[in-house]
Amino acid sequence: MSAAAAAGWWAGHRIRVLLPALFLAPVLFFVLASPRSSPSFFAPPVSREHLPSGSRVIWAQRRAVEWRPCGWWQRKAMPAPGSRNGYIRIDCYGGLNQLRRDLCDGIAVARLLNATMVLPKFEVAAYWNESSGFADVFDVDYFIEQTRGYVEVVKDMPEEIALKEPFKVDCRKRKGHFDYVESVLPTLLEHRYISLTPAVSQRRDRNPSYAKASYCQGCYNALRLNKKVEAKAIELLQVIPKPFLSLHLRFEPDMVAYTRCAYNGLSSDSLGAIEAARGEDRKVLIGDDARLWRNRGKCPLTPGETAFILQALGIPTETNIYLAAGDGLMELEGFTSVYKNMYTKSSLLAHEDFERMHGNTKAALDYYVSVNSDAYVATFFGNMDKMVTAMRTMQGLQKTLVLSRRAFANYTAAGLAGDQLSKAMWDAHRADYVMGRGSALPEHCFCEFKL
Ligand SMILES: *[C@@H]1O[C@H](CO)[C@@H](O)[C@H](O)[C@H]1NC(C)=O
Ligand SMILES: *[C@@H]1O[C@H](CO)[C@@H](O)[C@H](O)[C@H]1NC(C)=O
Ligand SMILES: *[C@@H]1O[C@H](CO)[C@@H](O)[C@H](O)[C@H]1NC(C)=O
Repeated sequence: MSAAAAAGWWAGHRIRVLLPALFLAPVLFFVLASPRSSPSFFAPPVSREHLPSGSRVIWAQRRAVEWRPCGWWQRKAMPAPGSRNGYIRIDCYGGLNQLRRDLCDGIAVARLLNATMVLPKFEVAAYWNESSGFADVFDVDYFIEQTRGYVEVVKDMPEEIALKEPFKVDCRKRKGHFDYVESVLPTLLEHRYISLTPAVSQRRDRNPSYAKASYCQGCYNALRLNKKVEAKAIELLQVIPKPFLSLHLRFEPDMVAYTRCAYNGLSSDSLGAIEAARGEDRKVLIGDDARLWRNRGKCPLTPGETAFILQALGIPTETNIYLAAGDGLMELEGFTSVYKNMYTKSSLLAHEDFERMHGNTKAALDYYVSVNSDAYVATFFGNMDKMVTAMRTMQGLQKTLVLSRRAFANYTAAGLAGDQLSKAMWDAHRADYVMGRGSALPEHCFCEFKL
């Protein structure tokens, strides 16, 4: 096998290699960790004080708690739907990771209503100026195969139903908890075929277990990129120098405008871009409001702040960093002046290739690389970060951390700077990492394991 082919194989088979390893790990631990003989690969140094200087890194801290997919939903023994109530198409809006979030929620709703799912519709045209549908990003046959026994998914409907347009049910504007069975089932029974956009903030933990299991299986075990997109992603993964850390920065004009935070020392270019993105109802917060908001961790970290925290976490400045982000980042010099080995998809892929790519394909590449990187650090906890941390957890990849904007704001507000701030950042993130909080998965699909 050539090196390139080997790398491709590695990328494609990693999950299959890692999953058994994940389940073997506890067994190995008991076999190998007999008194005083713990092998070095299994016993990372517990405290940084005992490490030779220079090797202090957050990932070497021994975890007390680790998240793993729970066993209950991976055993296929869910009750079959009690009845067949009709057909549902899930209509999803926004960028890739938001589409995916809506799809995941929609899978649970379809099962909740005992409806048969047809392939979801991705309403991306307005957003990305492209018409990429579900099949343009994801592997359709794999999705159908993997959701079997959880929720019924079909490519084709009976002709008399396929001819009509579905009746539209849009739940995006709904606030608070509401009952899909109560409010949507009558419409489904009446029209037999509906399109549904799920509500954004519903409590998923109140669903019956068969709907929860469908959510977990459909979202975390049934979505993989189609062959064409995956091939491109593997090509990208191969050319990134290893080992590498994937970093999701989120310091873009729209993000900064949206969060209404003020920053000192931005360039006039950045300030101009932020003002241009600012709507009437998004005025900068000032005074106490601004301070409280920032202390609640609501303000995105700048590239410079991110570099400071990564250094505080002992991540060497020569680390290869893949920047999983769009092209609109501001103040990037604040990061690249410290971490110089930085790579982006536009720097690694052939120019023509890159120009031809759609927004969703680009987002899919970042997603894939981040799920398969040695380490992943998020500076925000948006839709992409939630999906990536969850998928990494599925694969047993533990070097995953969401930086604490709250801790950074808190300590800088308290006047800490330099070494003191660095020490405070280390302590806060070390505690998060050890307790599995940094990438905590607030969903019923994942369970905490005490180590
Ligand atoms: C769906 O099927 C389950 C059994 O799997 C049943 O308990 C439930 O009442 C059914 N719900 C609807 C809305 O038909
Ligand atoms: C959208 O895409 C079409 C076809 O690729 C192109 O001709 C058009 O200029 C694009 N529109 C915008 C607003 O980017
Ligand atoms: C700031 O940090 C202090 C000390 O850890 C803690 O007691 C306090 O609750 C924190 N405040 C916020 C807003 O996070």
